[in-house]
Amino acid sequence: MSIDNLITMITSSDDGGADRLLQYLYEIQYQYSFIPEQAVQFLAEKLSVTQAHIHGVIGFYSFLHTEPRGDYDILVSDSITDHMLGSREVFDRLCSQLDVTEGQPRQDGRVTVATTSCTGMCDQGPAMLINGWTITGLDRNRIDAIVELVESKTAIEHWPGEFFQVEDNIRRQDILLSDDSGDGDALRAFIDQGADALLEQIETSGLRGRGGAGFKTGLKWRFCKQAEADQHYVVCNADEGEPGTFKDRVLLNSYADRVFEGMTLCAGIIGASRGYLYLRGEYRYLREPLEQVLTQRRNAGLLGNSILGHDRFDFDIEIHMGAGAYICGEESSLIESLEGKRGIPRKRPPFPVTNGYMDKPTVVNNVETFMAAALIAINGADWFRAVGTEESSGTKLLSISGDCEFPGIYEYPFGVSVNDILKDCGASNVQAIQVAGAAGFTIPASEFDRRIAFEDISTGGSFMVFNQERNLLDAVQNFARFFVHESCGFCTPCRVGSSLLRDLVDKVHSGHASEYDLGEMRNIGLLMRGASHCGLGATAPNPVLDTLEKFPQIYEQRLKHSGYEPAFDLDAALQDARDITGRDDAGAHIRTES
Ligand SMILES: Cc1cc2nc3c(=O)[nH]c(=O)nc-3n(C[C@H](O)[C@H](O)[C@H](O)COP(=O)(O)O)c2cc1C
Ligand code: SF4
Repeated sequence: MSIDNLITMITSSDDGGADRLLQYLYEIQYQYSFIPEQAVQFLAEKLSVTQAHIHGVIGFYSFLHTEPRGDYDILVSDSITDHMLGSREVFDRLCSQLDVTEGQPRQDGRVTVATTSCTGMCDQGPAMLINGWTITGLDRNRIDAIVELVESKTAIEHWPGEFFQVEDNIRRQDILLSDDSGDGDALRAFIDQGADALLEQIETSGLRGRGGAGFKTGLKWRFCKQAEADQHYVVCNADEGEPGTFKDRVLLNSYADRVFEGMTLCAGIIGASRGYLYLRGEYRYLREPLEQVLTQRRNAGLLGNSILGHDRFDFDIEIHMGAGAYICGEESSLIESLEGKRGIPRKRPPFPVTNGYMDKPTVVNNVETFMAAALIAINGADWFRAVGTEESSGTKLLSISGDCEFPGIYEYPFGVSVNDILKDCGASNVQAIQVAGAAGFTIPASEFDRRIAFEDISTGGSFMVFNQERNLLDAVQNFARFFVHESCGFCTPCRVGSSLLRDLVDKVHSGHASEYDLGEMRNIGLLMRGASHCGLGATAPNPVLDTLEKFPQIYEQRLKHSGYEPAFDLDAALQDARDITGRDDAGAHIRTES
């Protein structure tokens, strides 16, 4: 299809304004492999924005490009758990067999191979995306088959279906995942009991947000309901970009009805008629099935006008795609992105509950939070409060990956101990766990009697296990690089601080750091924590600060003069110098100085 026809087809499917920009760019990228200048000019005119604005948006999102990618655009997951499963070997094998340089389209334009932060498949990696579609369980055989399919120009639709299989891997169910309520039950409860009574149930249940921060859900909904405006919005945060987190993927795959029901319930309570599911670009494969669930719900009278025949209960949901920016999980960046812009976090206050999407009162909640809210509407606040702890009612879904026999999704009542979790997932000889993702906490074995709860270890759901054989510094290095890539660059403490931290971690890793560098790491980390504009920069130094405090030996044994043999081979470098210059004394001064 010509670019003219493609753009006309994409943009004629709705009468949106500039807020549709990211969605148009997303479609053009995936159907055309890049955003041609012609498309930029066309969109600038249609949406009455400048071409510079559009280039700014394209430049912000890792999945959008102004130069063509290969016909097969491969992105191998770079998350630490994929590394532990062999993703570096996968990447090297792909590059060598396909004869490509990282990130560069091959000369014939057939293929590009690069890395991406985390594909959300930590329980079944190594994983990759090809033209946006997820492939899991990469091993030598699968890689060789992929190389053959690429070289034979086989269309992706004809690739073996099992390559694209994504398993739920649900290992433990509790009150949420064992739900057997019927579609519409929460909405019938809402219609029977009314908005005020149900809001009270949500408040009494003690439900707190499952996306990480743990804000009280009932209170958030009440603030939003009380904010006067002609329109309110409900937004489901399915950006799930935190390395090691994949629980929302499973909820959207197998419990989407409950999630949409929670959103609809929220709409009824706060008086919204429009909602958005912000789906991370890496979960492209979920989009079509989710659209089908929405259609079924419309047909069943559970979405649309006069829901379940109830007057003035009108609500519908639209799916918006993210395009590879972890920061867009932060709620104000997410709202910017929903409005079609770069995902730069907003200044807060004002908060989204009063000034959110399109400056209107907006509730943003995590996928799991909406599902829990739907079940509380059906079963009541006491049912929910009966599980968990005083301050953390209900259950928490954990995404468990790394060194364990049974990676996957585990639902536990809040208050479960780390020791019990490790037993269940078949982890032994454990050195440390990383909870709450790259920005979370590194917990040593001496603290494994601690509990998962807002009052102890609080988490959005990521739980990565590292056994004694692992070099924890590899994980710290991976996280430091992740934050350099994902910092939006808006504020200096995070933009510069994350790069400095990355460089210092690299310096330690290669055996060239001194005690002074460790002090600098602490100083930079504390400065980022205190001075960053948003939660990303404030939490990015956590893995460095945590390990400096709790695992000082991983740094000390690598310090210069500690006896550690650095990766840099001086003799080999001197030989290179002699070979290049043809002089026997080349580089001799280096040995003298060192
Ligand atoms: C850098 C960053 C990334 C975030 N990513 C997510 C995410 O992927 N999903 C999510 O629900 N919340 C994420 N959050 C938290 C959101 O800002 C927000 O608190 C949450 O969506 C509110 O929903 P909840 O109250 O149901 O947890 C992130 C926060 C930060 C600072
Ligand atoms: S802290 Fe980082 S991610 Fe947040 S606004 Fe500053 S640069 Fe952007």
